[in-house]
Amino acid sequence: MEVPLCVLVTGGAGYIGSHTVLELLLDGYKTVVVDNLNNSSEIAIARVRQLAGDHAHNLSFYKMDIRDKPALEQLFASTKFDAVIHFAGLKAVGESVEKPLMYFDNNIIGTITLLEVMAAYGCNKLVFSSSATVYGWPKEVPCTEEFPLSAANPYGRTKLMIEDMCRDIFASNSDWKFILLRYFNPIGAHPSGLIGEDPHGIPNNLMPFIQQVAVGRQPALKVFGTDYSTKDGTGVRDYIHVVDLANGHIAALKKLFDPTIGCEVYNLGTGKGTSVLELVSAFEKASGKKIPLVKTGRRPGDAEIVYASTAKAERELNWKAEHGIEDMCRDQWIWACNNPYGYQTEKTQ
Ligand code: NAD
Ligand code: UD1
Repeated sequence: MEVPLCVLVTGGAGYIGSHTVLELLLDGYKTVVVDNLNNSSEIAIARVRQLAGDHAHNLSFYKMDIRDKPALEQLFASTKFDAVIHFAGLKAVGESVEKPLMYFDNNIIGTITLLEVMAAYGCNKLVFSSSATVYGWPKEVPCTEEFPLSAANPYGRTKLMIEDMCRDIFASNSDWKFILLRYFNPIGAHPSGLIGEDPHGIPNNLMPFIQQVAVGRQPALKVFGTDYSTKDGTGVRDYIHVVDLANGHIAALKKLFDPTIGCEVYNLGTGKGTSVLELVSAFEKASGKKIPLVKTGRRPGDAEIVYASTAKAERELNWKAEHGIEDMCRDQWIWACNNPYGYQTEKTQ
């Protein structure tokens, strides 16, 4: 019998991580999750086990900080990993502006520690969660992987620095294999409504905020800017269903075992731009709820229009997003109805 490949997933209890871990298990991979639960709950892991059914025995979970080098070394000493998918990181832009050192410590030191331990134990394949934030305010759209890169805030800087680190490490030793995935705007949830995004505190991102308005946790959505040069004056983004994004990781993982791969970058998006008002309207349709709006000024640092060129991922990863905005809103609403307070109950909030 063929031995299944074993993948370490850092940050696998989080939003994108939990959806990816489920797809890995369903695809037959042995999956080991490490997460310090800083922005997630172990309930997500239990729900993934539930959804994975017969494959659940292939999942192990360790509550661990990736900066804890002795703990990580112990794990690598006891398990041979064929590859690592690295989600663990802090991701709130505003917080990163207030506490840059916390972001450099968690995201940069965490990644350096992980790469050092991988090198020490002979594991040289990594998929990394980068972001469309590295395109800054793009001069034109769609964004191709060759566009100039910049960082507008400490969070974005950590993504760019880690991408550069991977490029430098590969330049020094071509045994390494890196796939850097630049996500556009992941939204939605698994259609079962069992796993989804559970932001702590008041959400910064559009869809989690809309969801909280719909379930009565926030009174109204502030629309940040109505004077952009877009179809209706509001910002345009490339929203991608989180299950499509998760499947993009399986495609990238497979590509890591292609002998020709070195250090490659892929956009994961749909290639379609949707405005704030269009997303609100699609969500209202899916949920039957009216989302009260307050039109306010632009949010500092926001770009006008960002969407992906998906040609490279389609061509080289043989992957394409399948779900549209309607599916994303439907699944977000199923998750919201089943879990209006995320993985916690209302009383424990
Ligand atoms: P998330 O916060 O839900 O998941 C990140 C997980 O990493 C959390 O479970 C958290 O507890 C864990 N973690 C953080 N620091 C850790 C550490 N030092 N050690 C161990 N675990 C740690 O976020 P997400 O939306 O699932 O994002 C996953 C990755 O994708 C992040 O790196 C994020 O920056 C990146 N990304 C996210 C988006 C997005 O819109 N969600 C867009 C682009 C890129
Ligand atoms: C934000 C981050 C980006 C990160 C991405 C995915 C900022 C400046 N950028 O990008 O670094 O990679 O999330 O995590 O935070 N909007 C409102 N009202 C709201 C929230 C958002 O109108 O309450 C608008 C925004 O102005 C934007 C759109 O909705 O036009 C999407 O916003 P958001 O979900 O925060 O994502 P990004 O701005 O793309």
